[in-house]
Amino acid sequence: YHGWEYNSEGTCTKIPQLPDDRAIPLKAKAIKYTCRAEHGFVWINFENNNPEFPSYPEFTDSSYRNVLWGPQEVNANPPRIVENFLDVGHLSFIHEGFLGVPEYPEIGEYDVHTEGNRIFSDEIAIFQPDPDGTGIAKNVYYTYEIVQPLSVRFTKRDPETNNKMTIMLIILPVTEGKSVAYGIMSVNYETGTTDQEMIDFQDMIFAQDKPIVENQKPEDLPLDLQVELSLKCDRMSIAYRKYLKILGVRLGTE
Ligand SMILES: [Fe+2]
Repeated sequence: YHGWEYNSEGTCTKIPQLPDDRAIPLKAKAIKYTCRAEHGFVWINFENNNPEFPSYPEFTDSSYRNVLWGPQEVNANPPRIVENFLDVGHLSFIHEGFLGVPEYPEIGEYDVHTEGNRIFSDEIAIFQPDPDGTGIAKNVYYTYEIVQPLSVRFTKRDPETNNKMTIMLIILPVTEGKSVAYGIMSVNYETGTTDQEMIDFQDMIFAQDKPIVENQKPEDLPLDLQVELSLKCDRMSIAYRKYLKILGVRLGTE
């Protein structure tokens, strides 16, 4: 607004309105946050505590095509949006005809594993009417993974073709009850669709989730596992709640 300039430490280096012989007041200082441009986004660390950076190997893997998705505003707290993304049971109902069919709602046994700081599921079979755009209905296999409290991903794999699609969901908290969702979509096969068509498809899928996520009660995710009734197929969601509890995440939890 006034042409003030700062260096990367946040120190003010120029105030054009001041006469040359006047020192720049020490109070003229910007707050500095660590940030990093990676995977197509700028990540800001408000704690300046240098956490481990979320890895996303597909982004620099030349066998993948990466498409950025979002922003999508959501009237919900971040953990509810993340949990919906990790949920397997809703695919046949909320995304009927796209990511599942009501005739095959059953979810097979699967476990969630922790290896080092990775938390991920076994591959979970989902019957989809047209998983890769060829029009052939078949089982595809989803592996879910928690990357950070507000960054989670899944990889959908077709064992017949080894076609893989990974989507990482990243949630930006805005205010109480308001968030913005972003994503990275990565495919290792020719989809026959443009980037915009992939984004439009994801927008359509997300529009099916949105009213569910925005109307969940309580709005904060209960970390006490007795508060809501979970089934075996909700193991990923249970793992996410336990993970948030261990980390002591209070944002959008109760
Ligand atoms: Fe969904």
